[in-house]
Parts: sequence; structure tokens; C-alpha cells
Amino acid sequence: MNRTKTGIEGLDEIIQGGFPKNSITLVSGPPGGGKSIFCFQFLYEGIKNQDKCLYLTLDKKVEGLLAQAKELGFDFQPAIENNQIKLLYLNINKKLVYEKMTNEILSGEFDRIVLDSITPLSEMPIFIKNTGENNPDISMIDSGDYSEGRNLPSRRLHLQFIMNALESSNSTSVVTSELPMGSSLLSRDGISEFLADAVIKLSFDPTMDRRKLSVMKMRNTKHTLKPQDMVIESDGIKLV
Ligand SMILES: Nc1ncnc2c1ncn2[C@@H]1O[C@H](COP(=O)(O)OP(=O)(O)OP(=O)(O)O)[C@@H](O)[C@H]1O
Ligand SMILES: [Mg+2]
Repeated sequence: MNRTKTGIEGLDEIIQGGFPKNSITLVSGPPGGGKSIFCFQFLYEGIKNQDKCLYLTLDKKVEGLLAQAKELGFDFQPAIENNQIKLLYLNINKKLVYEKMTNEILSGEFDRIVLDSITPLSEMPIFIKNTGENNPDISMIDSGDYSEGRNLPSRRLHLQFIMNALESSNSTSVVTSELPMGSSLLSRDGISEFLADAVIKLSFDPTMDRRKLSVMKMRNTKHTLKPQDMVIESDGIKLV
């Protein structure tokens, strides 16, 4: 199987060389758990390998992200200028957020895609145009048109919609999910972990000043379930 290198020192060795190509990996963890740093490293590795990369975020403006990444030694500026990476901030409150997002994802341009994080999307109410059918088409999602809409069980639809797009994209993707401190869940929404091909959980123990990375699931891959010791240093995440 073709593998995509993660860029995280020590991780590829325990997952048979990297993420399966065209898979979706959910990276979940508490605030400060290292999710965004994980994403930066994954994309930086892509740039080193001449992959075309897309970074989608729903909660921070692009300049802030770039500064945060640069602080850790991942300077994306040259790659932006070379058209090798596109960073896109999507405002969840704006109409057409889905259209914008799926247009990018499905453009077929990208080898690696990051969505950091999926949590705001999974918590957004959903309205589907009332077509009079019992089984509305998932592609009918229209976050803007409230007047004609009716509310449906929203989380699964949002998540399925976005995961389907990632799956059809021909890219290797990483999606993050925000967990409360000490949570035993695998995602905030309780659904993404089933839709994703792989789940990596980041956690830490403040009293012991220790961080862990656990590969909870990875389709088509033999891997250990044992939590791995992990550090975040000035050059990013490493398994130790
Ligand atoms: N230079 C550094 N050296 C060591 N640790 C660092 C350094 N920079 C950041 N960290 C650690 O990484 C954490 C931030 O990681 P990151 O932004 O990836 O977290 P996150 O999981 O995305 O959090 P959030 O859910 O709040 O977005 C900091 O809280 C700090 O503990
Ligand atoms: Mg983050």
C-alpha cells in the first residue's frame, strides 16, 4: 500500500511507513494537546515532498496561523508564494461556507488536506431545503437559507458531508477534533471517529508533565495501541 509520510519523528515507524494514501486521519486532543502543530508538521513534510497542500481552518485567521507555525520553525511563506500550499480561513457564519470548502477539497489539486478543526462545523445547525421528499439529498445542504429549511439531525449530516468530500478528493487528509481535558472520547462529536479511516489521540498528564500519542485506529495498518511518549519541542512533535 502507498503511504504518506506524516512528518512526525517516530510516528511513521509504528504505522508501517505513514498514513495510507487517500485516507482520512482524525487527530483529537485537549486544548494545547498539539493538534495544530501536528497539522503543520504534516503539511511541512508534504511541501518537502513536493506535495500540493491545503490548510482549512474555521476558527483562526490565516495570519495568526502562519505566525504560530513560523514560531515553531515551519515557515510556510515561501511555499505560499510558490503556490505549493493554500491556507484558507472559512467563516462559519457566512453563507456558502460549504460550497467554498467543498470546491477547494474537490478541486483535485491537493495531495494533502488539513481541516483544523472540524468541531465548529459539527456544532452548527443544519438546514436542508424542503424538497417534499422523505430522504433529502445530502448535497442539498444550504447553511444560508433558513426560511425554507427544516432542522434535521445535524451532526452526522455535517460530518458525513465533509468526510465524503475528503474521501472523494484523492488527497491524504488530517482532520482535528477538540476534546475536553481528560476526556475518554475519541472525538468531540462522537461520530467522526467512525467516519475517519484512522484516529490518533493526543493527551497529556499535567502532574507528570508528560504527553502521549495513541494510534487508536488505522485501517489497513498493523499498529500498536500502546500510548507512545511524545514531546513538543522548539521544532515540533516527536515520539521518544
Ligand atoms: N516552542 C515550544 N516548545 C515546547 N512546547 C511548545 C512550543 N510551542 C508550543 N508548545 C506546546 O504546544 C501547545 C500548543 O500546541 P497546539 O497549538 O498544536 O495545540 P492544539 O491542540 O492545536 O490546541 P487548541 O485546541 O487550543 O487549538 C502549547 O500549549 C505548548 O504546550
Ligand atoms: Mg489548534
